[in-house]
Amino acid sequence: MNKVFITGASSGIGEYLAYAYAKQGYFIGLVARRKDRLDQVAIQCTELGGQTKVYPLDVLNDVECKSAIADFIALPGEMDTVYANAGVGSPDGLSSGSADKMNHVLSVNILGVTNTVMPFIPHFKEIRNGKIAIISSVASFRGLAHHAAYSGSKAAVRNMSQGWGTALHKHGISFTAVCPGFIKSEMTGDNEFPMPFLMETKVAAQKIIRAVNRRKKVFIFPWQMKYFLVPLIKCAPDWLIRILGFA
Ligand SMILES: NC(=O)c1ccc[n+]([C@@H]2O[C@H](COP(=O)([O-])OP(=O)(O)OC[C@H]3O[C@@H](n4cnc5c(N)ncnc54)[C@H](OP(=O)(O)O)[C@@H]3O)[C@@H](O)[C@H]2O)c1
Repeated sequence: MNKVFITGASSGIGEYLAYAYAKQGYFIGLVARRKDRLDQVAIQCTELGGQTKVYPLDVLNDVECKSAIADFIALPGEMDTVYANAGVGSPDGLSSGSADKMNHVLSVNILGVTNTVMPFIPHFKEIRNGKIAIISSVASFRGLAHHAAYSGSKAAVRNMSQGWGTALHKHGISFTAVCPGFIKSEMTGDNEFPMPFLMETKVAAQKIIRAVNRRKKVFIFPWQMKYFLVPLIKCAPDWLIRILGFA
């Protein structure tokens, strides 16, 4: 049986990734802080044909991450894919006089990824196979006004994914930096601004899995974001960004 490990599995993209793998009969490691939500996702996965083990933990806790990952690797089955998906987004709070909010975003979105990915590397090297998906964002392509810690964290992990992929290619390990546009989830649920090309979570999960299985290095979607918005925000001058309402 193939095994997949998913952080941020208690809601949104991670939850729907879990359901999609459950339908394929995978053994799924479900990680997040909210145990009650993870338990509900686990029940649903079992009904869909998968098996699960729930790991209620904070991805900032490197000791708990290491121990959960060692436990999951030791379970029967072949380790197939890891999703470093857990993430948070909040405004920088530029006038608050405190770095607390942005430090939290930077920590969860960057250290949460290293704490998830690194403990798997020795095992994947040993079996000479493994797929690792790191959830970045289209926001990684420009420093966003008022959400610069978020866009910066997503740029950091996209770059880390690229570097690790280059270094570990010879060991059969692939890295996919997944850069979604707007996807329906708890994170986007309260957004009051327009979200162009907003995608259903289930559809997003299917697209992500396809790209990761194809071992794509960077996956930007939906296509409108890839071909129009990302090229635009990469090179647009600040005055245009302001007119477009991104600041
Ligand atoms: N939705 C979008 O439009 C969009 C676009 C681009 C990128 N993304 C990225 O996609 C990923 C998933 O987000 P989502 O949209 O599915 O939002 P979501 O529904 O808010 O999911 C975030 C997940 O991360 C978990 N999480 C947050 N902090 C954690 C921590 N310290 N330790 C362990 N788990 C933690 C949450 O679970 P608990 O609260 O239970 O811990 C939850 O399961 C994030 O990395 C996000 O930045 C989303």
